[in-house]
Amino acid sequence: EKGGYDYFMLKEIAEQPRAVADTLLGRIGAGGRLSLDEMRIPDDALRDIDKVVIVACGTAYHAGLIAKYAIEHWAGLPCEVELAHEFRYRDPILSRSTLVIAISQSGETMDTLMAVRHAREQRARVLGICNVNGSTLPRECDGVLYTHAGPEIAVASTKAFLTQLVAVYLIALYLGQVRGTKWGDEVTDMVHLLAEMPDKVDKVLETMEPVRALARSLADQNCVLFLGRHVGFPVAMEGALKLKELAYMHAEGFAAGELKHGPIALIEQDLPVVVVVPPRAREVLHDKIVSNIQEIRARGARTIVIAEEGDTSVLPYADTLISVPAVPTLLQPLVTTVPLQVFACELATAKGHDVDQPRNLAKSVTVE
Ligand code: M6R
Repeated sequence: EKGGYDYFMLKEIAEQPRAVADTLLGRIGAGGRLSLDEMRIPDDALRDIDKVVIVACGTAYHAGLIAKYAIEHWAGLPCEVELAHEFRYRDPILSRSTLVIAISQSGETMDTLMAVRHAREQRARVLGICNVNGSTLPRECDGVLYTHAGPEIAVASTKAFLTQLVAVYLIALYLGQVRGTKWGDEVTDMVHLLAEMPDKVDKVLETMEPVRALARSLADQNCVLFLGRHVGFPVAMEGALKLKELAYMHAEGFAAGELKHGPIALIEQDLPVVVVVPPRAREVLHDKIVSNIQEIRARGARTIVIAEEGDTSVLPYADTLISVPAVPTLLQPLVTTVPLQVFACELATAKGHDVDQPRNLAKSVTVE
């Protein structure tokens, strides 16, 4: 049931603090030690891993792209991220010491399942991240980490995405813990900060009215661009995907560093550009994106800036400023994605679309 909301999507967006909390539940022990025993891959096997390969489609692929930053940093392992339908038709170099992570909300996406089979034929260990108990993916994997988003009915993925992020953070931190990487202290600190994320997501949800008003004011636009750096880049891609599937608008997510290599030619008077700004603590990244905002604004873009609370450096260049709670860079997608979901949902509704059932799309793509 929709629980008083007009659409399942609105209900699922609102459920995100609870979904994030449930996905953390029982996995954080005393002193910030993680226990993920239910995932069924022994610690010894995890210590032998020398490479991680992530396979997924759509929004789950964006969770994978964010996982790469976390796994490289906290686990100190090389990590590749692949669209499952590309991976399965290539000849990837895998071995017994490769950990393949397959991410799928439904656990029924055909391309992701076929990618898992492809990986297992080459003896790689496969870990699934899945939201649906009893679906096919967990049966095909060596181990599984369930997300506890609860049933996601709307076609556009929202709460499943946030819980996939929690799952990949848990895995990256757990790998860091069992492998004893140089980031040992940071790993425990980060576990504590992860536990605070349900509250932070809740705070974001409380401040969404201006985002909805902005979305309604942009309902007649033909195109919106999204820019980000580091983990903000996959967030930009996710924001664009939401807008494509719900509002049927042309939308593209770019790495801000690519602007000068082509996309800046797209900027014209009043083109809305959403920019995801990293925390000020990541000075180099932060300052680079502030100059990107100046560059596009000088060319007429209408800048919609998502930045952490108290970041006044962006004020002179932001036509609209959306503030999110201050959190560490790697965890920031949990708070920066939410305004983009609300934005796409509201804009599509203003256009008169059914956001639960976008045209031409199915909730899970079980065919090839
Ligand atoms: O069930 P899955 O996570 O495997 O689904 C993957 C994609 O089909 C899915 O995320 C799709 O991109 C969503 N509709 C995006 O909102």
